[in-house]
Amino acid sequence: MTLEDLERRTVAAVAAATGTAALDEVEASALGKRGELTRAHRDLGQLEPEERRTAGKVLHELRLRLEAAVAARRAELDAVERRATLAAERLDLTEVGEVAGPIRAGHLHLVTQTQRELEDVFVGMGFTVAEGPEAETDWYNFEALNMPPAHPARGMWDTFYLELGEPETVLLRAHTSPVQIHLLEQGQRPVHAVMPGRCYRRDTPDARHLAVFHQIEGLVVDRGITFGDLAGTIETFTNAYFGADIHSRLRPAYFPFTEPSAEFEITCTICRGEGCRTCSGTGWIELGGCGMVDPAVFDAVGVDAAVWSGFAFGFGIDRCAQMRHGIADLRALVENDVRFLGQF
Ligand code: PHE
Repeated sequence: MTLEDLERRTVAAVAAATGTAALDEVEASALGKRGELTRAHRDLGQLEPEERRTAGKVLHELRLRLEAAVAARRAELDAVERRATLAAERLDLTEVGEVAGPIRAGHLHLVTQTQRELEDVFVGMGFTVAEGPEAETDWYNFEALNMPPAHPARGMWDTFYLELGEPETVLLRAHTSPVQIHLLEQGQRPVHAVMPGRCYRRDTPDARHLAVFHQIEGLVVDRGITFGDLAGTIETFTNAYFGADIHSRLRPAYFPFTEPSAEFEITCTICRGEGCRTCSGTGWIELGGCGMVDPAVFDAVGVDAAVWSGFAFGFGIDRCAQMRHGIADLRALVENDVRFLGQF
């Protein structure tokens, strides 16, 4: 076989190689250790020195040309194979959109939105916003709130206890009132604060109750605070948050940490006071509790009741969202159905 034949055949085989593996074989048989060109090189030994030099140069140039042809083809094949790998491993990220329609951006949960709106209303009325822990000791949830051990009023809150053993009983707070104690213990005077947060009760969930729910507590401690200040604050809040045609009223109640105490109700937002099933025909819906801070609470945290007086209130954030948006069943808030959540 002449060198011309070898070159023609090799160049044709290189061009015909359809994959890098096939190209490797062509390269080995033409240029490899046992390849034809190597054999031709070896045969040079039989030639005269002068001829050997000329033939050697020819072989060397042929080798360079063939190596270049192999390298060029390899680059082509590498690119083709890389494209094939990418195509095979491609992730089709459009599939979700095609199945479920256009992708919608998420937003804050209705309860979070409601909490922030309530905070805004109270900040607008001159309150600051504070927070406290969700796991509390018995002292904060009960004792400092004028409920010594075995006080019957403890039964007003079906409480979850954490089994951490002695020396203190640790529980999941059943209301946000313990944050009042934290603020007063920290020595703040005067106090004009609201305290939103998550609370826990061993309640069976129903249309108006959740075992994990949210309250916002209010505490004002200053000089010369009266029950009129409390009533005015509740009414101002009610108008600001629910609208000018929604009013509040206070009805006598009992809480160990306030005296006198009241439940506060607002005009039913479903029937606007006409009377409907939601408000049992009364035209009013209960939102929370309130009252003047009991001197026993001031005693527990070292506030001089001769100088300071105050009021407190606490009500459900989830209940506010329910009233404002006409949500029939509170459990919808925790079912995570985007068809419900997406409406707000
Ligand atoms: N903490 C009370 C409750 O959850 C509500 C309340 C707060 C009552 C502040 C009076 C004063 O039932």
